[in-house]
Amino acid sequence: MTKLTLNGRTYEVDADPEMPLLWAIRDHLNLTGTKYGCGIAQCGACTVHLDGQPVRSCQTRLGDVGEAKITTIEGISGPVAEAVRTAWRSLDVVQCGYCQSGQMMSAIGLLSENKTPSDADIDAAMDGNVCRCGTYQRIRAAIHDAARSLA
Ligand code: FES
Ligand code: FES
Repeated sequence: MTKLTLNGRTYEVDADPEMPLLWAIRDHLNLTGTKYGCGIAQCGACTVHLDGQPVRSCQTRLGDVGEAKITTIEGISGPVAEAVRTAWRSLDVVQCGYCQSGQMMSAIGLLSENKTPSDADIDAAMDGNVCRCGTYQRIRAAIHDAARSLA
């Protein structure tokens, strides 16, 4: 059994500690907002926070999480998360939606560290999140919008 603290609750997961955290989240805890895209840390669809830092859950072993607090898209809260959510809605960022929970988790990670990101800061922070639908311009605009609302 592996004990996990996720979205403020404690869970016991009966799975191989070598298993990617992504499968514990999706298949054992039934939280399907976190997506599988590539499985090799190239697309960002599986992004969750460990102690507030964005990580790729497809490349994080269940057994390596330890005491770290996991947050998924279902559990985000607080002013930064709310600003991102509002900006995403008002700029109608989402197209098919598949990549967007990962995009939002990365954006929240960025704005939690940097309240006034430049275009270059945004490009650097969001570089590992791929969008097949090409919503990059709206994502960047929404991050600026969220930053303004947090100022
Ligand atoms: S599924 Fe994890 S980075 Fe693509
Ligand atoms: S919105 Fe479709 S993959 Fe990003």
